[in-house]
Amino acid sequence: MTAEAALRHYLCACQSRIETALDQVLPHATTQPERLHAAMRYATLDGGKRVRAVLVYGAGRALNLSPDRLDPPACAIELIHAYSLLHDDLPAMDDDPLRRGKPSCHVEFDEATAILAGDSLQALAFKVLCQNQTLQGYPDKRVEMIETLAIASGSRGMAGGQAMDLDAVGKELNLAQLENMHIHKTGALIRASVRLGTLSTPEEDGAKSRALDHYAKCIGLAFQVQDDILDVGGDTQTLGKTTGKDQAAEKPTYPALLGMQEARNMAQRLCEEATASLESLDEKADPLRWLAGYIIKRSH
Ligand code: IPE
Ligand code: IPE
Ligand code: MG
Ligand code: MG
Ligand code: MG
Repeated sequence: MTAEAALRHYLCACQSRIETALDQVLPHATTQPERLHAAMRYATLDGGKRVRAVLVYGAGRALNLSPDRLDPPACAIELIHAYSLLHDDLPAMDDDPLRRGKPSCHVEFDEATAILAGDSLQALAFKVLCQNQTLQGYPDKRVEMIETLAIASGSRGMAGGQAMDLDAVGKELNLAQLENMHIHKTGALIRASVRLGTLSTPEEDGAKSRALDHYAKCIGLAFQVQDDILDVGGDTQTLGKTTGKDQAAEKPTYPALLGMQEARNMAQRLCEEATASLESLDEKADPLRWLAGYIIKRSH
């Protein structure tokens, strides 16, 4: 099997696994209040590449963990991610009517329902971690997981990065400021994904955790650089979200600051650095190696 075929196979297996797990943790659409639960399910299920869940499974696999141990943290991170996208699309933020090839949640339902669905997805993510049975007997690990996700989601993580993003509209950021914004708005949850995977092992190996964390930092930034590149060079149909939004909204991006070629080079360098940091890990870390390449080659 070629590396590409192997990645496709691994991605599909993880995507199908997380879909089932998310379906189980989300309240049924017939549970009251039905409209809120329908909106939560609409925004979470049946869409998305599930890169963050794959990172949880991939980091766990690199440490020899079985995937069933990793379902709760994989669900938690995808629930937070779904909430972040849902709020990102709201009229007060990016005002984007298309997400994952479907009308955005506030278009399909209404704005108030979409806000509450985001709030509820965030709360559900923490409930899932609190009830994580695989960490029975390891209360410290459970608390560290909850703390990791809380920090990565909040004002010093994703939400803080989103605030920087909104504040940057119409301004020219320098490279360091742009990097800081991207590290928070997108990098924090990607880094947390890998960290939740490493926290799923009762006996942590410090050197391996550090290597994985460095990998996660590099691909977290590369992921948003590629997102910015696709906003310019991708097409709406393939991406399933509106292209050209960043320039139209006067958002500072890597292609705008560095030019397209240099932005691509930077994503490539970050991908190489990510892969290099996995040197001490065996072939169980291969999905993470493939994923680093996929993140910068993806067209959606
Ligand atoms: C899009 O994330 C928003 C960013 C943080 C860059 P993804 O590209 O992972 O979106 P889905 O989950 O696949 O829809
Ligand atoms: C969003 O960045 C990052 C989040 C925290 C959701 P973007 O605004 O660039 O994401 P897209 O392009 O709408 O998916
Ligand atoms: Mg945005
Ligand atoms: Mg957006
Ligand atoms: Mg974008």
